[in-house]
Amino acid sequence: MSDTATPKGPIGRFLALPPDSVPKTIFVAVTLCLFASMIVSAAAVSLRPVQEANKLKDKQINILQVAGLYEPGVDITDAFGAFEPQVLELATGTFTDQFDAATFDDRAASTDPELSTALDNDPAGIGRQSNFVTVYLLRDDAGDLDKVIMPIHGYGLWSTLYGFIAVEENGNDIFGLQFYQHGETPGLGAEVDNPRWKSLWSGKKLHDGEGTLQITVAKTQTAAGPDHHIDALAGATLTSVGVDNLVKFWMGEAGYAPFLTTLQAGDF
Ligand SMILES: Cc1cc2nc3c(=O)[nH]c(=O)nc-3n(C[C@H](O)[C@H](O)[C@H](O)COP(=O)(O)O)c2cc1C
Repeated sequence: MSDTATPKGPIGRFLALPPDSVPKTIFVAVTLCLFASMIVSAAAVSLRPVQEANKLKDKQINILQVAGLYEPGVDITDAFGAFEPQVLELATGTFTDQFDAATFDDRAASTDPELSTALDNDPAGIGRQSNFVTVYLLRDDAGDLDKVIMPIHGYGLWSTLYGFIAVEENGNDIFGLQFYQHGETPGLGAEVDNPRWKSLWSGKKLHDGEGTLQITVAKTQTAAGPDHHIDALAGATLTSVGVDNLVKFWMGEAGYAPFLTTLQAGDF
């Protein structure tokens, strides 16, 4: 027998095995898995900037929508230029230039122990609250304040709902409310996205004549009257209770109350 007929070394012996042998089958499977995972990882890394850009665009569309400025086909970046973003210190109700309002990330800040506070009284079910949030001012042609768009979030039945509330320059009349992210059930809690339900918010008043916060989402109207009442979603009482809690929380003392007081004084 010649030397070339007998494979030498582990690689030679491996190559000489039949294609359907167990070692060759395992080798092909492992190689394929490695190759596929490299492609998936490369795609995930290279698509991250696109995903971030899409997330930002989606947020901007939502801010435009809640302010009544969104029209299909509009250039989002251009239209969004109408807003003046400001980082608000919740406790004082004043703006701060400690952060860049164009890039400040409220959601990241709410998990940063340096920038957020753990909540003892937590009706919105959010655990921690950022001490700073980005609000968006909209001014009319004369430069006077027209509306303010404020981020809000809180727990529904299955998920945290993230959204915006738009309030008129008087700090009391609601222009609109909408959520841009949640995991409530389609057809039930997810009816928070139904345009008919969202339209119920327009024109409602946060406070009564005495300055008491009265806005309520409920099945039946409270004694405060229709100006402060939003019908709860049919078949989704628990999501509605979550929305009621989170709106009251964010419009209350732990949320935007100091800022709303400043707005009511006409200081912007
Ligand atoms: C699969 C499933 C999903 C549900 N999703 C929601 C939901 O997203 N929001 C909600 O409030 N209730 C949801 N419910 C209903 C609640 O369990 C509860 O019955 C309802 O909130 C009561 O509302 P009602 O008093 O208006 O009937 C769901 C129920 C089931 C079985």
